[in-house]
Amino acid sequence: MNIDPPEYIKKIKPYKAGKPIEELEREYGIKNAVKLASNENPLGPSPKAVEAVKNFCTSLHRYPDSSGYELINKISSKFNISSKNIVLGNGSDDIIALLCKAFVNDTKNVIMPDPGFLMYEISTRSEGGIPVKVPLKNLCLDLDKMAELCNPDTSIIFITNPNNPTGSFIEKEKLEEFLKKIPSNVIVASDEAYMEFSESYYCSWELMEKYENLVSMRTFSKAYGLAGLRIGYGVMNPFISEILNRIRQPFNTSLISQKAALCALDDEDFLEKTRTLIFTERKKLFEELEKLGITPFKSDANFILADLKRSADDVYEKLLRKGVIARSMSSYGYPEFLRITIGLENENNLFINCLKEVLDKY
Ligand SMILES: Cc1ncc(COP(=O)(O)O)c(C=O)c1O
Repeated sequence: MNIDPPEYIKKIKPYKAGKPIEELEREYGIKNAVKLASNENPLGPSPKAVEAVKNFCTSLHRYPDSSGYELINKISSKFNISSKNIVLGNGSDDIIALLCKAFVNDTKNVIMPDPGFLMYEISTRSEGGIPVKVPLKNLCLDLDKMAELCNPDTSIIFITNPNNPTGSFIEKEKLEEFLKKIPSNVIVASDEAYMEFSESYYCSWELMEKYENLVSMRTFSKAYGLAGLRIGYGVMNPFISEILNRIRQPFNTSLISQKAALCALDDEDFLEKTRTLIFTERKKLFEELEKLGITPFKSDANFILADLKRSADDVYEKLLRKGVIARSMSSYGYPEFLRITIGLENENNLFINCLKEVLDKY
């Protein structure tokens, strides 16, 4: 092949997604497998969103509203922010990519947690930028170090709150302390994909008036159960939103995803049911993991990271054979850690029973 991409593109390692249930069932010849690997909503999608999807099936020949008018207005009134502050994305992945496309080039660096969500590095490298990976400290973001490493070539700092894969949380006061240290020409992108699962929930954009370089990112993939549709949004200063709107694809969010997200935002019951399930099951799962003699870490997200003190790849494989998909953290640089997404009560019980059987054989 004579086609040769730029060196910076060659450095990108492909994103490794959680194993789909169908693939596991095909490979291992099992049925009714349980997936606790991709931090999805175990309750499924919001029923109101499902209704919206059905209702708009007959309009699939139409392009979506490029401005996302209805959904942006809904987000704006729900959270009491101006519609000028909001940019819709094809998942929050899209907002991450748009920020990099707009503000990163080969003279710029981007600061991110390590281990951290893989799309920060992929999107940075896609623009030729240099990722500056800051190791976690006691499994939490090392905000002091991140601020310290910021230099005149830094364009963006990605922080994750709650963090993936550790579930650690940054309180509002701590976020403000951090923002105070960051020059106003550096974007602080706060990725809040799991914020709804925190009992200390807050809206970081309340700090945006004071810190114009703050961008908050949210998604409908997790608490609203719409991962398959791909829709998320960013909240930011209108100067930044205007730039992102200039470079995004005109139809980056589909008709169906806009309509479903609109209804999901109104489905307060579903959101409450989801939060209650996660709070209850997260506590139980934490206690059960402790009883098995392994170390879980306190999580504000819909998953728990656990130190197995043995090869996570090996345990992951053995769990697969029993029909449970968790996530080995070896590719994140934690060879002995497993990340388990909180599932339904029966799924979590099955996971604990299977894990017990696996651990008993060591
Ligand atoms: C920290 C974090 N940010 C963003 C995303 C992507 O979310 P979306 O589905 O909105 O692209 C994920 C998905 O797993 C995530 O873990």
